[in-house]
Amino acid sequence: MIAALKQQFYILLMKSRRLVIPALAAILMLLVIVSTMQDLYTSLSKISDLESFETEFASNQSDTEDILHSSLQPPPGRSIFFHETSCTYRNSRYYVMNLTARQACSIESAALNNPNLQIFTVFSCPTYRPLVGRQKLLVDAIESYENVNFRHLNLRDYAMSTPIEDWVKRGELLNSSFPMEHTSDLLRLISLYRFGGIYLDMDIIVLKSLEKLPLNYVGAESNYSLCNAVIGLAADGIGHEVAELFLERYVKYFNGKDYAQNGPALVTAVLLKFCGTSLMKAIEGGRKSCKGFRLFNTTAFYSIPWQEWKHFTEPRYLEETMARTKDSLMIHIWNIASRRERIKVASNIAYVKYAEKYCPRTYAVAGDYL
Ligand SMILES: *[C@@H]1O[C@H](CO)[C@@H](O)[C@H](O)[C@H]1NC(C)=O
Ligand SMILES: *[C@@H]1O[C@H](CO)[C@@H](O)[C@H](O)[C@H]1NC(C)=O
Ligand SMILES: *[C@@H]1O[C@H](CO)[C@@H](O)[C@H](O)[C@H]1NC(C)=O
Ligand SMILES: *[C@@H]1O[C@H](CO)[C@@H](O)[C@H](O)[C@H]1NC(C)=O
Ligand SMILES: *[C@@H]1O[C@H](CO)[C@@H](O)[C@H](O)[C@H]1NC(C)=O
Repeated sequence: MIAALKQQFYILLMKSRRLVIPALAAILMLLVIVSTMQDLYTSLSKISDLESFETEFASNQSDTEDILHSSLQPPPGRSIFFHETSCTYRNSRYYVMNLTARQACSIESAALNNPNLQIFTVFSCPTYRPLVGRQKLLVDAIESYENVNFRHLNLRDYAMSTPIEDWVKRGELLNSSFPMEHTSDLLRLISLYRFGGIYLDMDIIVLKSLEKLPLNYVGAESNYSLCNAVIGLAADGIGHEVAELFLERYVKYFNGKDYAQNGPALVTAVLLKFCGTSLMKAIEGGRKSCKGFRLFNTTAFYSIPWQEWKHFTEPRYLEETMARTKDSLMIHIWNIASRRERIKVASNIAYVKYAEKYCPRTYAVAGDYL
């Protein structure tokens, strides 16, 4: 009797096992299907959100103008350019300004010290102004300067009628391992080729007026190398000639795998050839030793070399850093090294001292951290 029951139970178990596995599989498949459909549904609704978002923004005309088609064109040789390239290779058709407080500080310091120059912050894709939050406070703060302008560009259009037009069309830039950096290296050269003026990186604070400083200059970052974070070129004459040499070399030696080839190395190589002398001689000899071009020594823009970037962010270096930068036209805080460092407002460090003074409106709305 018990043996028979056992056998019945065993048969039942086997049968149900045969059922359980397919049943489990079916449930699993159902789950997969449901979650896929949910994903699909969410992404579909996101797309339509995006579309209505775009339409609404566009209808309110809160986007930036294309730099080549706006009514205020950069005045030749009287403009300062910043390029923001982080949107370059996004898939989406829109981008909302997302400047860090330190970038805003750079732009403000340029505007504050140079009221008679026009400041252009140029985004590499169509870009909308922020409508709410801290980002809006930052953008409003810098836009309160009359000479601050936001623009966007289309790389192919921007390269048109320049020595780099065909190369850009071939699309090699898309293959770069550092698309943002290499685009940024290139755009500054195109801006200066087109309009002349001054290009600045967005990790700079301008400390003095550049309005009366004759154009055609760059600065040394060491005894061996110039840097491309600050470039001033006249719209014509040797300024335009050098801009052309920069663009030609950019194409000739472009290397998508090399982070620095198209930046400081390019500027150094072109200018040493142009000056026809050694770096130290061209620096010490001034404009007459370089056909009218000025190579500033490290004091002008890069008093603190990148290896010492913590001099800007640590209290123990405050006095030394202020002393070493007292004759500088700008400070450069080497974003590539310092970007992860959180900088607390009101702390006793060189960066904060300079920010308080040269980007007061950004400083006032930044919140707890710059
Ligand atoms: C666009 O403008 C309309 C009316 O002027 C306003 O109601 C709406 O909130 C604005 N939308 C955005 C995204 O600014
Ligand atoms: C803005 O940039 C920060 C990084 O700097 C990023 O974490 C954040 O997601 C960005 N916001 C938008 C809206 O793109
Ligand atoms: C991009 O890289 C791929 C693979 O290395 C190569 O086949 C292609 O020709 C490159 N495209 C351009 C435009 O350089
Ligand atoms: C750079 O050159 C100057 C003058 O020739 C010299 O005094 C200084 O020590 C050099 N700096 C470095 C880091 O080599
Ligand atoms: C750079 O040149 C200025 C004079 O133009 C000089 O006062 C300063 O000491 C020089 N800086 C360096 C690092 O040689």
